[in-house]
This record gives sequence, structure tokens and C-alpha cells, in this order.
Amino acid sequence: MCGIIGYVGNKDAVPIIVDGLKKLEYRGYDSAGIAVYKQNSFDVVKQKGRLAALEARLAERPLSGRMGIGHTRWATHGEPSDVNSHPHVGSKNKIAVVHNGIIENYKHLKERLEHWGIPFASQTDSEVIAQLAEHYYNGDLLDTVIHVSTVLEGSYALGVMCVDDPDILIAIKKDNPLIIGVSDHGNFIASDVPAVLKHTNKVYYLNDKEIAVLRNNSVEFFNIDKEPLEKPLETITWNLDSAEKGGYPHFMLKEIMEQPKILRETINSAVNNYKSVIDTLDVAKFNKIVITACGSAYNAGVVAKYVFERLCRFPSVETELASEFRYRDAVINEKTLVVLVSQSGETADTIAAMREAKSKGAVTLSIVNVVGSTIAKEADFCLLTAAGPEIAVATTKAFSAQLVLLYILAVWFAVKLGKITQKVEQELMSQIAALPEKAEDILKQIDSIQKYASTCVGYKSIFFIGRNIDYAIALEGSLKLKEISYIHSEAYAGGELKHGTISLVEEDTLVVAISNCATLYGKIMSNAEQVISRGAKVLLIGNCPAAKPDDKLFCIALPESSELFSPSLSVIVLQLFSYYVAANKGLDIDKPRNLAKSVTVE
Ligand code: G6P
Repeated sequence: MCGIIGYVGNKDAVPIIVDGLKKLEYRGYDSAGIAVYKQNSFDVVKQKGRLAALEARLAERPLSGRMGIGHTRWATHGEPSDVNSHPHVGSKNKIAVVHNGIIENYKHLKERLEHWGIPFASQTDSEVIAQLAEHYYNGDLLDTVIHVSTVLEGSYALGVMCVDDPDILIAIKKDNPLIIGVSDHGNFIASDVPAVLKHTNKVYYLNDKEIAVLRNNSVEFFNIDKEPLEKPLETITWNLDSAEKGGYPHFMLKEIMEQPKILRETINSAVNNYKSVIDTLDVAKFNKIVITACGSAYNAGVVAKYVFERLCRFPSVETELASEFRYRDAVINEKTLVVLVSQSGETADTIAAMREAKSKGAVTLSIVNVVGSTIAKEADFCLLTAAGPEIAVATTKAFSAQLVLLYILAVWFAVKLGKITQKVEQELMSQIAALPEKAEDILKQIDSIQKYASTCVGYKSIFFIGRNIDYAIALEGSLKLKEISYIHSEAYAGGELKHGTISLVEEDTLVVAISNCATLYGKIMSNAEQVISRGAKVLLIGNCPAAKPDDKLFCIALPESSELFSPSLSVIVLQLFSYYVAANKGLDIDKPRNLAKSVTVE
């Protein structure tokens, strides 16, 4: 939530910051702003609305400078408005701040500052940081930032400038991501790598309560006691193309189309890099696996529960929303393996769930896409998905990479537990290895999916049903549709239909039925008949050669595959269906209203 970028160097900071904000817009897009240092003061432009609105303002009122900070906002405290946009400058016009996170004690701090006569301009929690910094400022910006950080409660990634220091940009973080990029023309702070990739692939990952002091030709690191730190400079292997649309109308479509490649790369990287990691894990000592995550990553966990149970015959495999797990005082201990699934590695609830699990002695294993993220760094074991940067807010390729990595993990666990033979392991691994090609076959059906989806824009509600592992993937189909098309949707286990959702079925309701479980085909088809006889239409997705399409039943056939791994195929159709429904409604698919890609606040 919220993207921040800062630059100090030899070039004009403004185009660099605006371009960086474009790459960070997925983190929040209700308002944006930019401040540059200009002769003992700041020049600030802030604008409610998308980044394009800020660009239009900048065209009317151009800024320039060699040092600046920018922000794209997802509002938490205070409505989206010009004044609530960042950067925030203190009332003495001395210190400017961009902030990502939530200051939990801001009310108390604000009351104190107001009591001392300091006037506030905005309703945000973030403004207290700028006001506090000015209040504590003693001529040394580093001291001031350290002092402020000891007072703040909550989460923050900050970029701070002071009018007295024309070439110093300071960054600090706690529980929100921040990277430092270094280039031959200047140095950067940013919430995420794509924002700086045009200029450099050399970055430092800041840890909590570490401070970076950037000048145009140097970067220094300190801990909170102002002791200098040595940090490793990392090289990013993604290229710029992976963060561009590459001719597609939306990132989401590009990312859907990349899935065969991403599946291949994730499988190869798992086999080459992670088998030995898992060999060091004493799986037999666990009596419980808890998979915890948020959003689509949670849905990947629901699918994985079926796979782990089926292959590993584990006494207990639970999937739990991280936002619930963190407060549930779950019965877990050193015999529990807690699996954290997260694209960003920065989701606040998933981080909290991981810390809760560790505090209770559980072993933690994370499946994460972003290298250097909090969950990747803090979990006891980390397996990286090879999805590359995912820009569209609604996840597609990262979800698919999570799924395939979870399958592989389940297979390896099953071998270690002696539940399957090596021969079965090989068979399962070759079924997994065949998924990328099957995904390619599905993508060839894009035209018919697009055509069908174009007839579905008028629905107010769409229901998704499936049984067993098909139900698990129906959850993701429903989430994807509502996220980007704003059509109400619910996923139901087929067997539960008669306990609720069927009361909502009427003439021309659409029910999407997923069917890859051969033994349950008859059951899901009888659900389909029950809704059709009440006037519904059914979109059947699956490997169902016996189905007879008619004006009430439209079928999208999937290639034959093992039932256990079929969610990787169903989901591609579900993603394309949602995408084309939303595209036909003319919606802003990559940035759906009210959502953000990385939910770094509770
Ligand atoms: C947001 C995104 C989802 C994502 C979820 C969890 O809601 O829009 O696409 O699944 O966060 O994010 P994570 O980064 O932890 O996978």
C-alpha cells in the first residue's frame, strides 16, 4: 500500500520520480505527489486521482531539482484529496516526508504537537512524522530521523529531506519494504525494484530500523544507535521488459500469457535449487502443517491442503487466513510446520502470522516471489517462485507459480514420509513437468473464452461451484472475477449449493462449474442440472468429454491431467474469463478500485 520513491543525483529528479511512480502505481493510486529541493525550500505538487492527474498538474506547473521524493497513495487515514496526498511538509517548511505504512499512535502525537501550537494541514497519520521531525530537528537530519523513529509506533517506510541539506536524502523502514538503488548518476530509495530498474539493477535491501543516508555519489547505512553498517549490494536479474506491458493492453493479460514460461521456470528452479533444502528438513517430526496466507495466496493454500493430504497422508493439514491465524492463539508448537505463501512477502497479516508461529516455536517455510522481502528473509526456509515482477493488482502468474511449488513440496514431503515410492514420485513430477505445455494449449482457446466472456458483462452475480479440489480453485475464480469486474460472485462447494446459494438462482443466473474430479463428475453435473432447471446458465470448465453443450450449457474443455494438479489448468480459464468480462466492461483492469497489490497495513 502506497509507493514511495526518492532520488538524489546529477539528473533532474522529476522525470525519474514520475517514471518510478508509474512502476509503483500498483501499490496505491488514489492520489500522488512529488516534492523537490529548491534553494532552501521545497517545491511541492500533489494531486488527487491517478498519476496521470499529477502529470497533468506538472505540465501546468513544472518542477525540477536534483533531489526529490514522490508518493502514490492508498488512503488509510484521511480521504483521498490533494491536501492528504504526500509528500507532507512540516509547518516550518523545513522537512518533507513520504510515508508508506500506518502510524498507530498518531492521534496521541498529533494532540501533543497541536498542544504545542503546531498547526496541521491534513487528516493523515503521516503528517505527524514531518511535524515531529521539525520539532526534534537539531541541525542533524540523521539524529532527527533516529529520534522520530523511537517515538513512532506502527509501520513505516520513510523518505525524508530537509531544506538545510541540499544533497541528503534519508530513508528508514519498519515493517514496510524499502530498497536503495545505486547508479552512476545518482542514488534512489523505492518501495520496490521496478521503480529503479530503468537506472540500475544494483540494490540494497533495507532491514527494519536500518537507516540509509543517500548523497548523489554515496550511500551510507547506520543502525538505530547511529553505528555504521556494511550491507551487501545485490544484483537484480530481472530485465526492464519484465516490468513493461510488452504490447499487451494490460499487465494482467501479459501476465496470464506468461504462465507457461513461469511454470517452467519455477519447476526448474525448484528441482535445481530446493530439493537439497527440503532434504535438510525433518518432515517426520511434524504432526501438523498449517498453510497461512491472504487473498489469492490463501486460495493457493486451500488447493495445497488437498494435495498435501492426498499425497502425504499427514495427520493434520490446515489452511488458514493469516488475518485470523495471527489472533487465534492457535495450538501450534515445534512439531508444527507453518507454510507462509505470499507474492510480495510483505503482506502485513502474513508477516504477523509468521512471527506468531515463530514465537510459538513452529518451523516456518515461506513461498515468496519477491527476493529480499520480509517473509523471504525471516522465515526459517524460503522457496522463491520464479514469476518475476507482477504488476497487475490481481495476481495471476505468481498464483500459478505458488501452486506448482506447493505441489512439488507435497511430492517431496510424501517421499520423505515414505508415503509414495520413487516411481510414483517420478510419475507425479512428470505430470507436473507437463503442466506448462498444457497451459499453452489452454491459452490457444483464448478467442472462444473471450467471445463467451463478452456475453457475460450484464450479470449482477455469478456463482462458482466445484467439488473437492475443484471447489478450492473455484474460490480463486470467484475472487478474480469480483476483484476486477466488480460483479458480485461467490464460490460454493457443489454439495453445499442446496444449503444456501440455490435460493439466489433465477432465470439467467450464471453458474460456473468446475469439473476435473472424475469420480465426482456425476455429482457436479447434477448440481448443474439443478440450477439449469431453475433457469440458470452454466459455464462448465474441465475435462468432461461426456458433457453435451446446448443453449444453457457452455463448455470449455481442459486437457487431460491429473486431478490433483488440474487447478493449474482451470485457473487459466478462470483468469481469462474474468479478464475479458472486465475488459468488455471497459474497466481499469490493472488497478481495480479500492484495491492495492501489496497490503502492508492491517
Ligand atoms: C492483495 C492482492 C492479491 C494477493 C493478496 C496477498 O489482495 O491484490 O492479489 O493475493 O494481496 O498478497 P501477497 O503478496 O501476500 O501474496
